[in-house]
Amino acid sequence: MSSEDPYLKALELAKRRGIFYQSSEIYGGVGGFIDYGPNGARLKANLIDEWRRIFVNSLPDLVYEVETPIIVPEAVLKASGHVDNFTDLVTQCSKCGRVYRVDHMLEELGIDTSGKSTEELSSTLARLDGCPVCGGKLNQAESYNLLFRTSIGPYSSLVGYLRPETAQGIFPMFRRIYEVTREKEAFGIAQVGRVGRNEISPRGGDIRLREFTQMELEFFFDPELRSSPLFSRLANERLNLRRDSGNAQPVSMTGKAAVSSGLISNEWLAAAMIMGKQFLIRLGIPEESHYYLEVPADKRAHYSKQTWDLMARLANDNWTEVAGLSYRGDFDLKAHAHASGVDLRAFKRLDTPIVKQEKRFKWDPVRIREKYGPMTGEVIKSLSDMSEDDILRAISAGYFEVNGQRIDTSMFSVEDVSKAESGVHYYMHVAEGSFGADRLMHVMLAHALTQREGRAVLAIPRYLANPQVGVLPLMKKDGLDLTARDLVSGLVRARLAPTYDDEGAIGRRYARLDEVGVPVAVTVDYQTLEDSTVTLRDRDTWEQVRVRLSDLPEKLRQFIYEGAQLRELGERAASPAKD
Ligand code: GLY
Repeated sequence: MSSEDPYLKALELAKRRGIFYQSSEIYGGVGGFIDYGPNGARLKANLIDEWRRIFVNSLPDLVYEVETPIIVPEAVLKASGHVDNFTDLVTQCSKCGRVYRVDHMLEELGIDTSGKSTEELSSTLARLDGCPVCGGKLNQAESYNLLFRTSIGPYSSLVGYLRPETAQGIFPMFRRIYEVTREKEAFGIAQVGRVGRNEISPRGGDIRLREFTQMELEFFFDPELRSSPLFSRLANERLNLRRDSGNAQPVSMTGKAAVSSGLISNEWLAAAMIMGKQFLIRLGIPEESHYYLEVPADKRAHYSKQTWDLMARLANDNWTEVAGLSYRGDFDLKAHAHASGVDLRAFKRLDTPIVKQEKRFKWDPVRIREKYGPMTGEVIKSLSDMSEDDILRAISAGYFEVNGQRIDTSMFSVEDVSKAESGVHYYMHVAEGSFGADRLMHVMLAHALTQREGRAVLAIPRYLANPQVGVLPLMKKDGLDLTARDLVSGLVRARLAPTYDDEGAIGRRYARLDEVGVPVAVTVDYQTLEDSTVTLRDRDTWEQVRVRLSDLPEKLRQFIYEGAQLRELGERAASPAKD
């Protein structure tokens, strides 16, 4: 990447302007952790709110948001398969002790690792020239678990983990959710929160993190219910889909065509993919800068039946994965039901009850006691443990054995009964959209960074910006500053997010606001004192208009949230000072 790389420029700006930077920087920092500074934390919160608006708030009575702890007990992740399967293969240098992720090391040498077993990869490692740093012999490939492990309370035996995905807070609470949502046949559960993955050596600088924020949505649905009412509203939207990671270009097709051709496994997954596309567009990432890449079976997570990675462009040919959309089938609910012993099935009422023929066995405990006395308990327990077939066999033989003694079955009877079942129990299936808030911050900033007259302008969508309005007194005297400060208070009361700046020439102040993406500046000047009007200046066009102070909150709202053009809001104004 050259220094002209727009992504590197955006990174440099992010650090310089307090958007984000290395965590624990004064101690040298540790790779994979970042801090969000004064110009970044609120921006990220707004990005998350935009996700919430699309995936939760706009789907009332369908999607519900929950919040669960970031530390989970071992039993949860043992059941989910993460303790055994959330691993990467590593190799350690026998001389210097450095540890390398095997697939990264081999792919950097141009060696394809797809579909290779651990043994095959170990043989490939043995044929290499050794450790890239010291030349030492590389050990056999072995599994390395990416979970951050801790202990809960004072007992080291009570193991906990930092959750690797927020979804593992959702599945164990399925029973409660299902009841509270009145046993719907389809619904979504969303969660936003921090997760941790103890990556071996995070590649890609600030973009591959060990702790980050996920925005996840799990759609639970009855797999026999072929159509999703949500999808029927979105089906004609187009998706860019790419099936392999070779050179094939993404193809554009409607969600409907992708599902009916079997390319996308179900309507709920396709609906989440379409909303994912819409979300990126709302972040200012144009459609040609993202596509879905199908993950091959041998690279998918252990729970996935199908996964599409949402790939977004950081710079010319530098793409990164910002979301994974997976069809998880009934893997998770079944796994947690089996491990916990709690029934996590849903119940489906049937229009016509199913009538089943069953055998009913009867025995008379009084007669058993008369005949077998102290053995009665054992006889009845044996009967309870016997399968239907065993009992039928015993009755036709006339006896069965308990502790070597023959028990006469003449005192048992069997009759055929018909039983009507009003419904069936089944495991709901899951389609998931899992979005990385921090990666999306990177991509959003890379797309937002523009240049105007040699200066950086961060053109993030206005509705995401924070601060939203710069309030600038032309001079720090003559009451202009007091009027400007009053204005800040008024804008706060109007639930807008202003920032005040009276330091330096007005042009420099505009430039500072442009660099951190504040969409509009309000300048209080001498005319304000005479006629209660102020100047509004657009970050992107540098146009200026004159607006009455009393109209300001409403006009700002139109500009920030409704996409109004500045010139629609007031009379064109002469600049109070040169930019
Ligand atoms: N929940 C999917 C993931 O964390 O990758």
